[in-house]
Amino acid sequence: MPIGITALGTYAPTRVLTNKDLEGMFDTSDEWIVSRTGIRERHLSGEGEFASDMGVRAVNDLLARYPGVLDGVDLVVCATSSPDAYFPSTAALIAGQVGLNGAGALDVSVACSGFVYALSVAQGMLLAGTARKALVLGAEVLSKIVDWTDRSTCILFGDGAGAAVVEEVPEGYGFQSFVLGADSVGGPSLYKFAVADRIPGVPVGEGNMMLGMNGREVFKFAVRVLSDSGEKAMNKAGLKGSDIDWMVPHQANVRIIESACQRFGVSMDKTVVNLDRYGNTSTASVPLALREALDDGRIQDGDQLLLVAFGGGLSWGAGAMKWYGGAGKRAAAQEQESDQELVVQ
Ligand code: ACO
Repeated sequence: MPIGITALGTYAPTRVLTNKDLEGMFDTSDEWIVSRTGIRERHLSGEGEFASDMGVRAVNDLLARYPGVLDGVDLVVCATSSPDAYFPSTAALIAGQVGLNGAGALDVSVACSGFVYALSVAQGMLLAGTARKALVLGAEVLSKIVDWTDRSTCILFGDGAGAAVVEEVPEGYGFQSFVLGADSVGGPSLYKFAVADRIPGVPVGEGNMMLGMNGREVFKFAVRVLSDSGEKAMNKAGLKGSDIDWMVPHQANVRIIESACQRFGVSMDKTVVNLDRYGNTSTASVPLALREALDDGRIQDGDQLLLVAFGGGLSWGAGAMKWYGGAGKRAAAQEQESDQELVVQ
């Protein structure tokens, strides 16, 4: 039975920090940030708001768009790089607040590749019969783990969340392939300490509680794995570049995306980019981009999608899927109880 996404909700905090605002905080410029990254602004959570709060609000958006869609959910998988706590899991915290107490709940920790990994974990558990219907989230408050005095990292990141329902879909729709990977040799290029104040390859004593990154190394890695893993996911699904209607990449840096597209042979016109307004929201970036392309009508029922992501680990995740828009249309029809124009794909 094919498994796929049937509903998608997102959230980004209302507080916006622009590049101009950053100019007042340290030595940088809007021109430098836009030319090196494509980012113009990012959304920041408030004091006392954490990843679980972002996730709950994304679920609220999901429920507003698809009323009743959480009925029958028995598994919650939350990808996050900035969890509220080691435990309870952010998934369990969110489940408790959205009426899913009792469902299996786990976090997935692979940094920015997390949403693609989490979709694959949910698919596997549904196919194994462990669960019947899953809520998959990417939820982040990266602004709380970056060093706001390090201009080469803090300019990149923002906060937000995405929430997707993953369940059985009609034949011809849903997930076609996943490719996951990690290479710890690159681990020291992107890290965040936890209990141990050491990571193999990072000299002892250099760690602090904030995110550490070697931007140039991550950049080179990202360009390579976005195209390689995307290619593998397409091959596994029996697809070629010209079959892809929309590529939805992790939103880290527009130059990374452009270089990967070039290697890949997928046009930027077929690639969803919204990092200019959100920055890098880690596990939330793919659902935020996906939701935007659904809302403005670019992605339609039956479209061939390719999701590609990379992150700390260093890790990568790619997945091919046929978008199923039927659940959205049904929900909209139920909600409106009329034959008005259906706007939700
Ligand atoms: N404003 C102005 N100048 C800056 C800034 C800034 N915000 N940040 C760095 N600079 C300076 C540097 O100090 C350096 O100056 P120098 O030449 O005098 O030493 C110069 O700009 C060039 O620095 P580079 O690091 O070489 O700049 P680069 O072109 O590589 O761009 C960037 C840096 C944007 C970080 C880029 O390397 C990048 O995007 N890398 C990928 C990072 C990424 O995607 N991380 C997320 C991974 S996902 C996850 O799992 C979290």
